Amino acid sequence: MGAEPVNVNEFEKLARQALPKMFYDHYRGGAEDQHTLKENVEAFQRIMIRPRILDVSRIDLSTTVLGYKISAPIMIAPTARHKLAHPQGEVATARAAASCNTIMVLSYMSTCTIEEVASSCNAVLFFQIYMYKRRDITAKLVQRAETCGYKAIVLTVDTPRLGRREADIKNKMIAPQLKNFEGLISTEVSSDDGSNVEAFVRNSFDASLSWKDIGWLRSITKLPLLIKGVVTHEDALKAIEVGVDGIIVSNHGGRQLDYAPATISVLEEVVDAVKGKVPVLFDGGIRRGTDVFKALALGAQAVLIGRPAVYGLAAKGEDGVKRVIEMLKDELENTMAFSGCPTLKDISRNHVRTQHDILH
Ligand code: FNR
Repeated sequence: MGAEPVNVNEFEKLARQALPKMFYDHYRGGAEDQHTLKENVEAFQRIMIRPRILDVSRIDLSTTVLGYKISAPIMIAPTARHKLAHPQGEVATARAAASCNTIMVLSYMSTCTIEEVASSCNAVLFFQIYMYKRRDITAKLVQRAETCGYKAIVLTVDTPRLGRREADIKNKMIAPQLKNFEGLISTEVSSDDGSNVEAFVRNSFDASLSWKDIGWLRSITKLPLLIKGVVTHEDALKAIEVGVDGIIVSNHGGRQLDYAPATISVLEEVVDAVKGKVPVLFDGGIRRGTDVFKALALGAQAVLIGRPAVYGLAAKGEDGVKRVIEMLKDELENTMAFSGCPTLKDISRNHVRTQHDILH
């Protein structure tokens, strides 16, 4: 591709050229038939926008999440192992988040440490965890994040085991030692029949994680706690009951349960159940500013991007991540201008028409 990329999908093409096949497949892939992966994107295409007109001379994209002001409702989702995409890894991603004035959620499975990322930039950072069988390790990581100024903990709950990512199995995906665990435990687990990522998760993640463990997590940190991986109103209500501070509607980018619903198709169900008691954030399939607009119209406070940020990083490092965020911001701004919405508060349920609306 000669010309500079003009949208997120073109960044994906550049990333594909830049990365070894094993790593590109790892980032792009989903579970099994990859139906959910595909649906996450395609379900957005079935939602139409009902534009209103006039009075959009000034457009303000800014919002707050847990009280932190950000320039636009577009945050960076936790994704593992950024050094496979770029030598500067998560430090580059965090610096891009800082320069765009947005929030990055650092993955537990990062290739730069919690401390390196915190000291490299002044972005507002959240820290994502999985529940480890050895709770002392989870506790240690949470405490390290709190000590270096992370502002929230995001507990991912859709990974009692790893989804079957067949590309990783075929490629015998080999992931490097994860930096946050150095001195604690080896993450270089060997596997005879497939990806060592799967072997690591099988050996170490706690499949017995249950609602009562949220209480334990609360007892070891003062930070607000978000739960990531909710796609039903039943689980949203449970999450509220145990006192989380926010919910992230997510199916892990289609990497866990295949045939789980596209996240945009269940966002409203969760929002209706939550009734504004805590913020609802959203991820899965965001590739355009129009997608951000649709998610906000269906009740999300903000969205997170997973693969788009990684593609930006693989293609052009820190600047690539920054450009991906800027592109989505520009497209969102444009969508708001065409839809008669000078501020995010003006984006209403009435601005979109879903398949459900058409059928009922
Ligand atoms: C992820 N995701 C993820 N989630 C999480 O809670 N912890 C993690 O370490 C990871 N790692 C990870 C790696 C890669 C390569 C991908 C693509 C995804 C899921 C991620 O946070 C998010 O839910 C999805 O990526 C959102 O979908 P999109 O934006 O990629 O379509």
